[in-house]
Amino acid sequence: MSGYTPELKELIKKVEATRPQRVERARKNQHFTALTMEQRKEWLNKYHPDYKSEGRRPVKVGSNKGDVFPEEVCSLLESKSRINPKNIDLTKVDYETDVLVIGGGGGGTAAALIAQENGCKVIVATKLRHGDSNTVMAEGGIQGADQECDSPYYHYIDVVGGGHFSNQPDLVAAMTNDAPLVIQWLENLGMMFDKHPDGRMKVQHGGGTCRKRMHSAGDMTGAEIMRVVRDEARNRSDDIKVLEFSPAVELLLDTEGRCAGAVLYNLETKEYYIVHAKAVIMATGGFGRLHIQGFPTSNHYGATADGIVMAYRAGVKMKDLDSTQYHPTGVIYPEQNVGLLITEKVRGLGSQLINIDGEEFCFPLEPRDIESSCIIKECIEKGKGIMTPVGRVGVWLDSPMIELLRGEGTVKRELPAKHIQFKRYGIDISKEPMLVYPTLHYQNGGLQINDNGETSVSGLYAAGEVTGGVHGRNRLMGNSLLDILVFGRRTGNKAAEYVKTGVKGSRGQGVKLTLEHVEKFEKELKTAHIKEPIVGPMILPDYTPDHVKARRWG
Ligand code: FUM
Repeated sequence: MSGYTPELKELIKKVEATRPQRVERARKNQHFTALTMEQRKEWLNKYHPDYKSEGRRPVKVGSNKGDVFPEEVCSLLESKSRINPKNIDLTKVDYETDVLVIGGGGGGTAAALIAQENGCKVIVATKLRHGDSNTVMAEGGIQGADQECDSPYYHYIDVVGGGHFSNQPDLVAAMTNDAPLVIQWLENLGMMFDKHPDGRMKVQHGGGTCRKRMHSAGDMTGAEIMRVVRDEARNRSDDIKVLEFSPAVELLLDTEGRCAGAVLYNLETKEYYIVHAKAVIMATGGFGRLHIQGFPTSNHYGATADGIVMAYRAGVKMKDLDSTQYHPTGVIYPEQNVGLLITEKVRGLGSQLINIDGEEFCFPLEPRDIESSCIIKECIEKGKGIMTPVGRVGVWLDSPMIELLRGEGTVKRELPAKHIQFKRYGIDISKEPMLVYPTLHYQNGGLQINDNGETSVSGLYAAGEVTGGVHGRNRLMGNSLLDILVFGRRTGNKAAEYVKTGVKGSRGQGVKLTLEHVEKFEKELKTAHIKEPIVGPMILPDYTPDHVKARRWG
């Protein structure tokens, strides 16, 4: 329970020394000048990990053959299956359903709810427990243009500006247009949004937004969303069956080339199960646990990119999979919390980023990739970072400013989870700043979809972080919780429509389930001379140190 070391406490004095003047300027709305477009470009090229050539290479097989992705992603796309298709009896089906949803986070659960409302029987297969996902890790908020001064049009402009105009326009339009409806849907489900005493929604700015449209539930917005959608799914358990600890390891196609289910692996019994479904919705989330370029991550334990691996083998093309989001403010002290998220809401409420000399060095609400680049520049090029006892380097996030700008008690009220998280280690963030550095936060790219979440494989839909195109090369805060719900709902709708009208010929009438695409992919691996491919999907990350593995396996 020691809090900061004496050396770090000494350095905090420099932050305290400049705080009164900085608060004074903030009160007068005199903010650090935002970077020009030219500077932004330069900062990204020089400092953002995505813009480096090291650690990337062309993928050697599949529909994106030749495209350059991070090394860790390439290895997974070139991985071999966990199963030998010849050993799987596809005539023995364990579960039959209309819609199979792979992934039990917010997006998958929203999809299940809407498919059920449209008359479908649904199975949700989830790797860990229902709700274990990046959804529950999301803190600061969900965007939605439902205020008088705002509109989906402004929201759209912010999203494409933040994404460097590389976003897929139909997806952005779908997301920003549906946003007010989604906020209303959540409210109807019983979500406890932060509100003013008169009942109006409290809204804040996020990085790169021209209007305040960030709706929140303290700093546990994702957990609150998951609470209401999961409760609703439980209430409909006659039609929505949830299979926990049952990750999918391969998609099943039928002899007509349509997606028709999946092979699941039961983590407890270590058996494989066959699910035959008329439609499949992929909602497996992202790839934080690949620790791209060695970065720590804010992601949950199961974020291992399983969906892109399975869909790639089935022939789906990936979009923007070379683009990774590093959230500017990941914890670097205390060591037990390294990589965990410190929500952007902390900056939205008025905190500034401060270097070792107590100086503010950038506008605190630049889009995330720019903000991260500013921090990396300050630490690496300028040498103005602060070193932790184990040698990590980062900058201060001056959270006590919030109390001075917005009144005593604001930190505890608006950021209750962060307050407790640090209190546990003897740090009171309403009085002391936090130490931060960028952390791997989000997979910007993924399965190529249209605005209904349809992929190029008939019967296969995808929603949320597993997809690419919505956010372009950089996502803004609060658009991930929105994305999963918009496209979860849209895929639920479209899959139900497909089930009712689109599936011609069923199994047993000359149409059979097949894993031929997996065998074909394995042949491609051999032709491309991929030596010793790893096994994929990864399912769970392996943190066993090499020396322990060596001892275990001799
Ligand atoms: O900073 C945050 O609270 C994260 C939100 C997000 O990634 O959308």
